[in-house]
Amino acid sequence: MTDDYLWFEEIPFPVIGYSYEVLKEACAQFVIKDEDTVLVTYPKSGSHWVIEILCLIHSKGDTKWIQSVPIWERSPWLETNRGNKLLKEREGPRLLTSHLPFHLFPTSLFTSKAKVIYIMRNPKDVLVSGYYFWTMTHVSKKPESLEQYFQWFMEGNMPYGSWFEHIRGWMSMRDRENVLMLSYEELQKDPRSTIEKIGQFLGKKLNPEELDSVLKNSSFQVMKENKMSNLEMLLEKFSSKHFKITRKGICGDWKNHLTVAQAEAFDKVYQEKMAGFPKELFPWE
Ligand code: PPS
Repeated sequence: MTDDYLWFEEIPFPVIGYSYEVLKEACAQFVIKDEDTVLVTYPKSGSHWVIEILCLIHSKGDTKWIQSVPIWERSPWLETNRGNKLLKEREGPRLLTSHLPFHLFPTSLFTSKAKVIYIMRNPKDVLVSGYYFWTMTHVSKKPESLEQYFQWFMEGNMPYGSWFEHIRGWMSMRDRENVLMLSYEELQKDPRSTIEKIGQFLGKKLNPEELDSVLKNSSFQVMKENKMSNLEMLLEKFSSKHFKITRKGICGDWKNHLTVAQAEAFDKVYQEKMAGFPKELFPWE
């Protein structure tokens, strides 16, 4: 149980699983290689879903890998203690994940040819998903209520800092040919085409049976049952109740949680912070 954050470069991080030294080294010195595939997301934007898809594309729909190796080992988090160690030991093309904001990301990325996939999600759903996650787990400061977490979210006072800064920073990479920007919403709307798009971006062509298997085995219901992917094994140590990463898996859950006043206050801040970005870049209202 913890009451605080680990602060690094004025950004709050969870206390468990992170250290100042690893963050410092990861941000300043980690070497991204040309053959790496890098998944970047703000927390609660669908990282685990896309990792599952990437693994299944990699194995051409074969489920052995996703059923035998924990998800956090298949595509380790570059800035966590354990993930960073695993990645440094790993030879060959690596799958790696990060929630780091753009300005803290190791600069080796910007001169490499590594393929980068950035996943965005409606920030109101990110807020609700994050509220449950940080309330149920013991790895970071716990909000006492949704009202309090709403305030933290608007101020960027929760793990990995401001959603607005995160997306604004990473959006600056959107025209690079080695960067693919996707949204949780488009994956929900048309998972088959979005998976095909990811495959094309990675230069991996799947036949119809392979594509069917990726689609089926990365679905919410199948992931929820897969102990290697639903974080059950990890979270039983770090969560108060039986909690899985696969909580609800829908678009628009914010409508069940935010009051009209909160949604209006959110929209006002959103418009101010996102001024200058064409609305068409984002698939949410
Ligand atoms: S984390 O801990 O920040 O890496 O979380 P992240 O994986 O980015 O996001 C967790 C949310 O993604 C949902 N999820 C899925 N949605 C649809 N389909 C599949 N297969 C899937 N897998 C995970 C998960 O349920 C979290 O969203 P919420 O809204 O909390 O349900």
